[in-house]
Amino acid sequence: MYYIGIDLGTSAMKLLLVDEEGKIRRSVSREYPLSMPRPGWSEQNPMDWWSACLIGTEELLAGFDRSEVAGIGCGGQMHGLVVLDENDEVIRDAILWNDGRTSEEVDYLNDTVGRDVISGYTANIAFAGFTAPKLLWMRKHEPENFARISKIMLPKDYINYKLTGVHSCDYSDASGMLLLDVRNRKWSSEMLEICSVREDQMPRLFESYEVIGCLRPEIATALSLPENVKVVAGAGDNAAAAVGTGTVGDGNCNISIGTSGTVFISSDRFGKDMDNALHSFAHADGHYHLMGCMLSAASCNKWFCDEIIREKDYDAVQREISRDRLGENEVFFLPYLMGERSPINDTDARGVFIGMSMNTTRADMAQAILEGVAFAIKDNIEIARSVGIDIERSKICGGGARSRLWQSIFSSVLNIPLDIPLTEEGPGYGGAMLAMVGTGLFPDVRKCAEALTRVKETVLPDPILAEKYENRYSEYKRIYPSIKDLFKELRRS
Ligand code: XUL
Repeated sequence: MYYIGIDLGTSAMKLLLVDEEGKIRRSVSREYPLSMPRPGWSEQNPMDWWSACLIGTEELLAGFDRSEVAGIGCGGQMHGLVVLDENDEVIRDAILWNDGRTSEEVDYLNDTVGRDVISGYTANIAFAGFTAPKLLWMRKHEPENFARISKIMLPKDYINYKLTGVHSCDYSDASGMLLLDVRNRKWSSEMLEICSVREDQMPRLFESYEVIGCLRPEIATALSLPENVKVVAGAGDNAAAAVGTGTVGDGNCNISIGTSGTVFISSDRFGKDMDNALHSFAHADGHYHLMGCMLSAASCNKWFCDEIIREKDYDAVQREISRDRLGENEVFFLPYLMGERSPINDTDARGVFIGMSMNTTRADMAQAILEGVAFAIKDNIEIARSVGIDIERSKICGGGARSRLWQSIFSSVLNIPLDIPLTEEGPGYGGAMLAMVGTGLFPDVRKCAEALTRVKETVLPDPILAEKYENRYSEYKRIYPSIKDLFKELRRS
């Protein structure tokens, strides 16, 4: 039998066709536009995701026996607000996870309602980009749209709805709405009230591996698939990527370097750090995880190559960086191109190069970007360490993690071994694995991960470089606090 894994990313949808042995038989990718109607805003049209899904599935299955497809599972970009009217039509473009328009609403939730109160209801505090502040923004700025809302959902839930006709959401993705009581796995009636939302406007909650339904007959016909193809609830992309790299069970870590950068720590028990600097979310294996999320990771490198130096060959740019310059760079980069979430929670923060001289080359700047992203990931690891979580090694996945140079920078900056999974297609592969569990091929997510995920190789830290980076990191850490207030003033002016 075959399983389709979907990764609803920010720049593209990636679809995988996976067989029962976990082998990827084909993968396809369909890009769609991202609109930034104002600085700091980030939106996408859900219909673009759906067209990518239809065209992508057609391409994925061409030449394969479609009657062999058993299940579909999706991992999707988290937090995006998708609103449907009473006819299940999309009311406005989705407001995405990296959208920073809600600083007022975030201040209202964290300061007026109160961080402790919100954290008591949900296990988290408000961050711009989470779904609840977006609802408050919409209530204030688009009251006509707000009044028309019949269903609220997240990006991958829209795809699941189009496939099955069922309004669903899984616990991992729902955790990032700031509307879920994460510990007790139910909608928080208090948060719904704060956001003027009724429970019947929310989708039904499922575990990620649970089947929400089968294909709608018209979709099955359009894609020449059997009507009994089962669709599972799926997961937020980070939880799905964690499943895809085998980061399930207690105390395992996965670092994902995509458009965003995340540190994901799986746990059998519910927990949160005192300051809520890390997100406390449900995991797709039925348990919990802690996560730090930086908003711009591989996207910093993409921005620098595409927009600034206009060089499409990213590898060529990295080849200009000489190995003996690692740990010696005078240039630092703060990767806050979209503001920042974890751990500083600052929508006003912006990207900064500092330390340049007449001797600075573009290779130094490209290197500063790779190092700055690694330092920002270390910021999150340090928070986990400060609450007693000892991270001795981690998996690493995502587009950015494919660069050999970047892998070794990460390993030495973090000073831990990094395991590279055999299958690097994190969220899509995790989605397919959830479908395998939902359709009964495996009894649970952990067994599925044990059977299918393998480490290809391990990148070890270089002790001399690790020491140099420890020193560089202590300098890097001083930059943001010394210009933090300036970011705020610049926003106001
Ligand atoms: C996680 C987050 C991002 C998006 C990116 O909290 O906002 O990782 O899920 O797709």
